[in-house]
Amino acid sequence: MMTVEGLNQYYGGSHTLRGISMTAEMGQCTALLGRNGVGKTTLLRCLMGVLPVASGSVHFEGADITRRSPHERAAMGLAYVPQGREIFARLTVEENIWMGMATKPARDARRIKGEIFELFPVLKEMLGRRGGDLSGGQQQQLAIARALVSEPKLIILDEPTEGIQPSIIKDIERVIRLLRERGDIAILLCEQYFDFARALADRFVVLSRGEVVAKGAKEEMDSPEVRRHLAV
Ligand SMILES: Nc1ncnc2c1ncn2[C@@H]1O[C@H](COP(=O)(O)OP(=O)(O)O)[C@@H](O)[C@H]1O
Ligand SMILES: [Mg+2]
Repeated sequence: MMTVEGLNQYYGGSHTLRGISMTAEMGQCTALLGRNGVGKTTLLRCLMGVLPVASGSVHFEGADITRRSPHERAAMGLAYVPQGREIFARLTVEENIWMGMATKPARDARRIKGEIFELFPVLKEMLGRRGGDLSGGQQQQLAIARALVSEPKLIILDEPTEGIQPSIIKDIERVIRLLRERGDIAILLCEQYFDFARALADRFVVLSRGEVVAKGAKEEMDSPEVRRHLAV
């Protein structure tokens, strides 16, 4: 579904991503693991086209999208749930969800599909509330809902459990598991919370200082080698 090859990125003189190669497959959850500051968010921003890359390539469904704009990528079926949620605090929950449909043709975007409220019942009760008045966990659910209404082929989640209370982490885990079981989407889950990632992942990639230092199937995820790169 998505293939990244030899990707390099710099912030000024600092070589932040060093020859990253990885894939994300349809119907699977790929966990992107690594400590704070290793380059996870930078990589996801490159995949979404928000940051330019110096060299290397990103292919999506066979097409080279390395130089495509974020908008084009969204229209092709990539959706992004940024770290820290970045919902629109002054817009209502309903308006926030509408923003996720911006890439859809008008005829497909006349109403919010009911299934989004089956996944996140709490949002239905809060449609008229301002995004900024929601709890952190509710905002995270809103950010995921906003990404899902574009009906993406690949959803990229940047640390969805960060700063979220355990009961809502469970809700988010349930939703990601459901998406995975449906099998019609690729999930790229960036996490520092190892147990959460392990519960959901089919495959994993570990970053350290901008490099891929380990990758494999979930059976190999709980190894001392992987843990060593995640321990603080
Ligand atoms: N906008 C930026 N300008 C310069 N350096 C940055 C910027 N954003 C992140 N960095 C640096 O790049 C490195 C990787 O950051 P980031 O991708 O946010 O890591 P992670 O998401 O794994 O915590 C860190 O050293 C960070 O300080
Ligand atoms: Mg990050």
